Amino acid sequence: MDKFIINGGSKINGKIAISGAKNASLAMMPACLLAPGCYTLHNTPNLRDVWTMSRLLGSMGVHCELNDHDLFVDSSKIDSFEAPYEHVKKMRASFYVLGPLLARYGRARVSLPGGCAWGPRPVDFHLKAMEKLGAEINLEGGYVVASADRLQGGKIHFDVPSVGATVNAMMAATLARGSSRISNAALEPEVTAQARMLVKMGAQIDGVGTNCLEIEGVDSLSPVNEHTIPDRIEAGTFLIGAALSQGQIVLENVNPYHLATVIAKLEDAGCEIDVRGETISLKIDEPPRPTDITTAAYPGFPTDLQAQWTALMLGADGVSSVRDTIYLDRFKHVPELTRLGADIEVNDNNAIIRGGKKLSGATVMSTDLRASASLILAALLAEGRSEILRIYHLDRGYEHIESKLQALGVDVRRVKTEEF
Ligand code: UD1
Repeated sequence: MDKFIINGGSKINGKIAISGAKNASLAMMPACLLAPGCYTLHNTPNLRDVWTMSRLLGSMGVHCELNDHDLFVDSSKIDSFEAPYEHVKKMRASFYVLGPLLARYGRARVSLPGGCAWGPRPVDFHLKAMEKLGAEINLEGGYVVASADRLQGGKIHFDVPSVGATVNAMMAATLARGSSRISNAALEPEVTAQARMLVKMGAQIDGVGTNCLEIEGVDSLSPVNEHTIPDRIEAGTFLIGAALSQGQIVLENVNPYHLATVIAKLEDAGCEIDVRGETISLKIDEPPRPTDITTAAYPGFPTDLQAQWTALMLGADGVSSVRDTIYLDRFKHVPELTRLGADIEVNDNNAIIRGGKKLSGATVMSTDLRASASLILAALLAEGRSEILRIYHLDRGYEHIESKLQALGVDVRRVKTEEF
């Protein structure tokens, strides 16, 4: 088990390149199940979640090999239609194999994911979508057992936009007989990235980039080579880090359009931001202003940057609020931030942050991926040394985070530990 030791007080200053988007890769990889053959997914991040998806696909007979951010996938032979609990419990995106397996093979056995670190995260939308496409769904021993002779086009409406259910349904509908409509579809760039890949494979999808997708099923699709989009959450985390430490940062290989809301909020907080092509520069030389955020589905403020924004507001002189409307219980980082001296009160899905208080280094524990990022950021604000335990969460979603932080001037090192 690794931990980070961080000495607070350093500024984030410098230039880094942003990696490929974890959540886009996790949507694109299972799409390779839809057509047999060889794919190369360029700009794939080298992350624990990508390894987990590779292992899951490997357990079905798909060969995956990552060479310097080019992920080679060979789905010519598939000899299992099952996503075992062992993989799904580690990573919910494993559930994405349901749609393509049903569409291409007419059967799938996929473990239910269960809860996650910040509360229940159901998969009912995924299951209802498959039923709308004609699949028979049974629950047996913690597994979803799904079958269909051939999926049929259907009308799917989501009560709230869901990234996972949209990508799962979209993959399934591409090979269904007839036309499908997915309304109130998620608009997240990772969904659009997968849709573009499917279109390149030969899928007929109208409305890509909108919340209503019209899909005309085809009999077969073909393998492709595709580029993964930049990771907007990694980019947002570094922008917030630079703002919190009153530093200066240049991010390369980003898509600023994907970060429009985050950039606007950082400007409200007093940051000077310059956008040129695929580069974003940020500078700030005074403490950020208290600035409220409310998370929402894209293009709203991402829930995956909520914890990091909470850390930013610890450095703002005054009171601010952070409300999460996507995951109402996503505040596991708050008690850990309190250990550093933070003054935060959580009422339902709203955190009130009284910033500008002195923080001091302490030992804190990562509870999930983005919560861990917020702990690193808060440790930068704290005086003295902090230890962050269980950083395996960070390795799920931030590529080479300590070397990127070190390159930006942060005093951080990874240490092996027996502590759990
Ligand atoms: C994806 C992202 C995750 C991000 C989240 C919200 C991946 C691998 N993960 O997760 O990082 O935090 O989007 O942007 O891309 N819901 C249901 N029933 C369902 C599915 C979802 O009620 O069957 C609800 C959820 O509880 C949540 C909302 O819909 O309140 C949106 O969740 P969703 O977009 O599905 O999140 P994920 O796809 O799991």
